[in-house]
Amino acid sequence: MTERIQKFIADKARFLTDAGVERAKGEIEIILCHLLNCERLDIYLHGYDMVTDDVQQRLDKIIERRLTREPLQYILGESWFYGRRFRVSPTVMVPTPETELLCETAIRYVGQHSIKDTRVLDVGVGSGVISVTVALELPECEVVALDISPDALEMARTNATELGAVQKIEFRRSDFFEAIGDDERFDLILSNPPYIANWEYDALPPEVKADPTVSLLAGDDGLDAVKVILRDAPKFLAPSGRILFEIGYDQGDKVVEMTEDDKRFRSIVVMKDYNDWDRVVLLSCD
Ligand SMILES: C[S@@+](CC[C@H](N)C(=O)[O-])C[C@H]1O[C@@H](n2cnc3c(N)ncnc32)[C@H](O)[C@@H]1O
Repeated sequence: MTERIQKFIADKARFLTDAGVERAKGEIEIILCHLLNCERLDIYLHGYDMVTDDVQQRLDKIIERRLTREPLQYILGESWFYGRRFRVSPTVMVPTPETELLCETAIRYVGQHSIKDTRVLDVGVGSGVISVTVALELPECEVVALDISPDALEMARTNATELGAVQKIEFRRSDFFEAIGDDERFDLILSNPPYIANWEYDALPPEVKADPTVSLLAGDDGLDAVKVILRDAPKFLAPSGRILFEIGYDQGDKVVEMTEDDKRFRSIVVMKDYNDWDRVVLLSCD
């Protein structure tokens, strides 16, 4: 029984592999879980019996779209992040697992320092994954979520509502810190900003190019957004607060260099992701 479903999945995965899709088998499993509303293990426990004609037809339609390299998350309208299902559409960037490291670090920092009533700022909320995750994982916190894109703010609000975090998040349309008052202070300033250099764009995989360009591109060196964060975030940081933001895999040294002569920064740590690439910057100020 297990053999039959394994062969079925492998056969379907081959179409995707031939079209250049990585981890094709995993994607077929995700599609089946979505269609059958079940866990991955259920597919192998209940086997081929679950795959009715209707399921097969819907699976084939999804595969057909995926062969064009449309991201699976946009086809299914959902993406998993930190164990929760978020709605996504082509108006927002597909969340990436690397961003979970940023959330995990922020949540751990608050726990270790016993910070109460944490005030969190999320610069560039997108689908809402950072704001919603932090709001749900930290029992006492308030989040202000910013984005320049009205579509992103709408999607983030939908996710916050559906996942039960909307009461803790205030959404503001803002060009970076524009909508933050001079007297506002935050214990955590978080961001997964755009960090792709313009010249890198053409070589990106089609799935990444499907993200809105406003989520990706950050000038000639990919550091335009990081420069704004380094310039403005310290003004809005509460005492003992931390600035955490995601960077590109090769940007760690450059970001360290950019903070070296700035007396406002007390320490900088560049954390690696699961692939051992530079990924999250953790900054403290005096
Ligand atoms: C890399 S995406 C991150 C989205 C989401 N936080 C995540 O981790 O999946 C960057 C986000 O920053 C937003 N953004 C880009 N430029 C901005 C600006 N000048 N001010 C505010 N938000 C901006 C984009 O609209 C996008 O939603």
